[in-house]
Amino acid sequence: MEVHRTHRPLDKFILKDDEVLLQFVANYDRLFASNQARVSARAAMATKQFFKQHVLGHFAYEERHIFPGLLQAGLGADVARAVAEIRKDHQALSKEVKQLTALLAAAELSRADVANLRVAMAALGKHLERHSAMENKLFPSLV
Ligand SMILES: [Fe+2]
Ligand SMILES: [Fe+2]
Repeated sequence: MEVHRTHRPLDKFILKDDEVLLQFVANYDRLFASNQARVSARAAMATKQFFKQHVLGHFAYEERHIFPGLLQAGLGADVARAVAEIRKDHQALSKEVKQLTALLAAAELSRADVANLRVAMAALGKHLERHSAMENKLFPSLV
Protein backbone atom coordinates (compact mmCIF):
# COMPACT_ATOMS: atom_id res chain seq x y z
CA MET A 1 0.00 0.00 0.00
CA GLU A 2 2.74 2.41 1.01
CA VAL A 3 4.68 1.60 -2.16
CA HIS A 4 1.65 2.34 -4.32
CA ARG A 5 1.07 5.67 -2.60
CA THR A 6 4.74 6.58 -2.97
CA HIS A 7 4.86 5.80 -6.68
CA ARG A 8 1.58 7.27 -7.79
CA PRO A 9 2.96 10.80 -8.23
CA LEU A 10 5.78 9.42 -10.36
CA ASP A 11 3.33 7.84 -12.82
CA LYS A 12 1.28 10.97 -12.86
CA PHE A 13 4.02 13.51 -13.36
CA ILE A 14 6.83 11.79 -15.23
CA LEU A 15 6.08 13.40 -18.55
CA LYS A 16 9.20 14.15 -20.52
CA ASP A 17 9.92 17.73 -21.48
CA ASP A 18 9.24 17.05 -25.16
CA GLU A 19 5.85 15.54 -24.24
CA VAL A 20 5.05 18.60 -22.11
CA LEU A 21 5.90 20.84 -25.08
CA LEU A 22 3.80 18.76 -27.49
CA GLN A 23 0.83 18.87 -25.14
CA PHE A 24 1.33 22.58 -24.67
CA VAL A 25 1.16 23.13 -28.45
CA ALA A 26 -1.98 20.96 -28.66
CA ASN A 27 -3.64 23.03 -25.92
CA TYR A 28 -2.53 26.24 -27.59
CA ASP A 29 -4.06 25.11 -30.89
CA ARG A 30 -7.34 24.14 -29.20
CA LEU A 31 -7.57 27.49 -27.45
CA PHE A 32 -7.17 29.46 -30.65
CA ALA A 33 -8.89 27.14 -33.09
CA SER A 34 -11.57 29.71 -33.88
CA ASN A 35 -11.44 33.43 -34.49
CA GLN A 36 -14.35 34.05 -32.15
CA ALA A 37 -13.74 36.48 -29.31
CA ARG A 38 -14.93 33.95 -26.76
CA VAL A 39 -12.47 31.23 -25.95
CA SER A 40 -13.96 27.78 -25.64
CA ALA A 41 -14.60 27.04 -21.98
CA ARG A 42 -13.64 23.42 -22.48
CA ALA A 43 -10.30 24.28 -24.06
CA ALA A 44 -9.61 26.75 -21.26
CA MET A 45 -10.47 24.11 -18.66
CA ALA A 46 -8.23 21.56 -20.37
CA THR A 47 -5.39 24.07 -20.50
CA LYS A 48 -5.76 24.94 -16.82
CA GLN A 49 -5.72 21.24 -15.95
CA PHE A 50 -2.67 20.72 -18.15
CA PHE A 51 -0.85 23.56 -16.38
CA LYS A 52 -1.66 22.16 -12.97
CA GLN A 53 -0.92 18.53 -13.65
CA HIS A 54 1.83 18.55 -16.24
CA VAL A 55 3.60 21.90 -16.00
CA LEU A 56 3.47 22.71 -12.27
CA GLY A 57 3.30 18.98 -11.48
CA HIS A 58 6.36 18.38 -13.67
CA PHE A 59 8.28 21.09 -11.84
CA ALA A 60 7.28 19.69 -8.46
CA TYR A 61 8.39 16.23 -9.57
CA GLU A 62 11.80 17.52 -10.60
CA GLU A 63 12.19 19.56 -7.41
CA ARG A 64 11.29 16.58 -5.26
CA HIS A 65 12.77 13.62 -7.12
CA ILE A 66 15.52 14.82 -9.46
CA PHE A 67 17.36 17.82 -8.03
CA PRO A 68 18.06 16.52 -4.50
CA GLY A 69 19.74 13.41 -5.93
CA LEU A 70 21.80 15.47 -8.36
CA LEU A 71 22.96 17.77 -5.57
CA GLN A 72 23.70 14.91 -3.18
CA ALA A 73 25.76 13.14 -5.85
CA GLY A 74 28.43 15.78 -5.42
CA LEU A 75 28.82 16.45 -9.13
CA GLY A 76 30.47 19.80 -8.62
CA ALA A 77 29.79 23.49 -8.64
CA ASP A 78 28.65 23.59 -12.28
CA VAL A 79 25.83 21.13 -11.58
CA ALA A 80 24.84 22.96 -8.38
CA ARG A 81 24.75 26.23 -10.33
CA ALA A 82 22.68 24.69 -13.12
CA VAL A 83 20.18 23.28 -10.60
CA ALA A 84 19.90 26.70 -8.95
CA GLU A 85 19.24 28.32 -12.36
CA ILE A 86 16.62 25.74 -13.25
CA ARG A 87 14.89 26.19 -9.88
CA LYS A 88 14.84 29.94 -10.43
CA ASP A 89 13.38 29.36 -13.89
CA HIS A 90 10.69 27.10 -12.36
CA GLN A 91 9.68 30.05 -10.18
CA ALA A 92 9.51 32.41 -13.15
CA LEU A 93 7.56 29.89 -15.23
CA SER A 94 5.19 29.17 -12.34
CA LYS A 95 4.45 32.87 -12.09
CA GLU A 96 3.63 33.02 -15.81
CA VAL A 97 1.44 29.93 -15.52
CA LYS A 98 -0.46 31.43 -12.57
CA GLN A 99 -1.09 34.65 -14.49
CA LEU A 100 -2.34 32.68 -17.49
CA THR A 101 -4.50 30.48 -15.27
CA ALA A 102 -6.16 33.60 -13.87
CA LEU A 103 -6.84 34.86 -17.39
CA LEU A 104 -8.19 31.46 -18.44
CA ALA A 105 -10.57 31.50 -15.46
CA ALA A 106 -12.52 34.44 -16.90
CA ALA A 107 -15.97 33.29 -18.00
CA GLU A 108 -15.85 35.36 -21.13
CA LEU A 109 -12.91 37.02 -22.80
CA SER A 110 -12.91 40.14 -24.91
CA ARG A 111 -11.04 40.24 -28.21
CA ALA A 112 -8.26 42.14 -26.44
CA ASP A 113 -8.12 39.45 -23.74
CA VAL A 114 -7.86 36.74 -26.39
CA ALA A 115 -5.08 38.66 -28.13
CA ASN A 116 -3.23 39.03 -24.82
CA LEU A 117 -3.78 35.37 -24.05
CA ARG A 118 -2.38 34.36 -27.42
CA VAL A 119 0.76 36.45 -26.90
CA ALA A 120 1.22 35.22 -23.32
CA MET A 121 0.70 31.57 -24.31
CA ALA A 122 3.20 31.90 -27.16
CA ALA A 123 5.70 33.50 -24.78
CA LEU A 124 5.18 30.71 -22.26
CA GLY A 125 5.72 28.12 -25.01
CA LYS A 126 9.05 29.73 -25.95
CA HIS A 127 10.03 29.94 -22.29
CA LEU A 128 9.22 26.23 -21.81
CA GLU A 129 11.38 25.42 -24.84
CA ARG A 130 14.32 27.35 -23.35
CA HIS A 131 13.73 25.65 -20.02
CA SER A 132 13.72 22.23 -21.64
CA ALA A 133 17.02 23.05 -23.40
CA MET A 134 18.56 24.05 -20.04
CA GLU A 135 17.51 20.76 -18.50
CA ASN A 136 18.62 18.70 -21.48
CA LYS A 137 22.16 19.91 -20.82
CA LEU A 138 21.94 18.78 -17.20
CA PHE A 139 19.98 15.53 -17.33
CA PRO A 140 19.27 14.59 -20.94
CA SER A 141 18.31 11.00 -20.31
CA LEU A 142 16.35 11.24 -17.06
CA VAL A 143 13.27 13.33 -17.77
FE1 LIG B 1 11.67 19.12 -17.15
FE1 LIG C 1 12.02 21.84 -15.11
